[in-house]
Amino acid sequence: MIIEPRMRGFICLTSHPKGCEQNVKNQIEYVKSKGPIEGAKKVLVIGASTGFGLASRITSAFGSNAGTIGVFFEKPPTEGKTASPGWYNSAAFESEAHKAGLYAKSINGDAFSDEIKRQTLDLIKADLGQVDLIIYSLASPVRLHPVTGVLHRSTLKPIGSTFTNKTVDFHTGNVTQVSIEPANEDDITNTVAVMGGEDWSMWIDALKKENLLAPGATTVAYSYIGPSLTEAVYRKGTIGRAKDNLEATAFTITDSLKDLGGKAYVSVNKALVTQASSAIPVIPLYISLLYKIMKAEGVHEGCIEQIQRLFQDRLYSGKPIPTDEKGRIRIDDWEMRDDIQEKVAKLWLEATTETLPAIGDLAGYRNDFLNLFGFEFAGVDYNADANEVVEITSIK
Ligand code: NAI
Ligand code: NA
Repeated sequence: MIIEPRMRGFICLTSHPKGCEQNVKNQIEYVKSKGPIEGAKKVLVIGASTGFGLASRITSAFGSNAGTIGVFFEKPPTEGKTASPGWYNSAAFESEAHKAGLYAKSINGDAFSDEIKRQTLDLIKADLGQVDLIIYSLASPVRLHPVTGVLHRSTLKPIGSTFTNKTVDFHTGNVTQVSIEPANEDDITNTVAVMGGEDWSMWIDALKKENLLAPGATTVAYSYIGPSLTEAVYRKGTIGRAKDNLEATAFTITDSLKDLGGKAYVSVNKALVTQASSAIPVIPLYISLLYKIMKAEGVHEGCIEQIQRLFQDRLYSGKPIPTDEKGRIRIDDWEMRDDIQEKVAKLWLEATTETLPAIGDLAGYRNDFLNLFGFEFAGVDYNADANEVVEITSIK
């Protein structure tokens, strides 16, 4: 079977095992090329199969020779259907880690559930004893609350008033106006329940209770701020409320880790093409303009460049970890540079269906989007039969 991208709306229904493997190998090579990082040796990554979480797992393993446990929610391949990309990524990651003599095991299931937390605690207990770094990198549209049984759905809505601005359908290149109705109180509560900090603190509490956190353990969750252009729908919208909550949770977790000398951080990362961000109106247009400028200035980064820099220059530089006035690590520093943002804001006003191919990086956006699913990688023969069952070694 030859696997081709099959698009529906903002998602791709197929993914390519060899291309996902190539993606993982490219990221591993990048991390190795940047030299060793004096980092954590036993790492738990929650949301480890794609995006920033996968990059965190790769950076830990191939930058610091860490043993890693990855938790994620992915679909294995079934009769006539490819697996989700995170499945292939994780299979490739484990295989490369094992070849390098590194411990790597994975748990596939709902990280919000008690059951998956239980399985993870048992695995740490049996294999690693304790962990010294916990990366929290979930991006999910829903959360079944383990205590109340309520199914919360997150939304991407402005708060207070209708938001109208430009957006692009990155498949067709059509730039149109989009209007998004404001959230109600339930939307806000639900989004905070899914993407806020409660589950992060539940994980850390559970680990601590069973003595699975090493002295000085660090935990990091990922956040986003972005420019005033996207503020109404992002940072001042429902998702922004969830990020406010996540950032506040870092302080309560740090308090709870005092006796261990541990610390919780939020790292504010750069806007990138991932499955999660492609679904947010306005953001794809912003990203296509941002990419154009950042590439021209020579400061463009993908997930792996962001996370490798986070680990090498911030978390494990040997110096005190620099934070902003709100205690956050800023690895979105290049995105937020005044000169970059001024240029993006100017292009924003000029962006139309006609001008965007020249002033924006639509081609780069599309390429990165296809890359998420294992397509468009150099060195992969996409005409070859790709009908293989791919297993994750530690999940049978
Ligand atoms: P992603 O969609 O690439 O990765 C999400 C991960 O969470 C995957 O490993 C997926 O399997 C896992 N997951 C989702 N639901 C799960 C569940 N119920 N149980 C277990 N695993 C589950 O997302 P991305 O973009 O890497 O986002 C990670 C974090 O980074 C999020 O907090 C996001 O807000 C943040 N971030 C993203 C930015 C972007 O531009 N993409 C920018 C800055 C921060
Ligand atoms: Na992730």
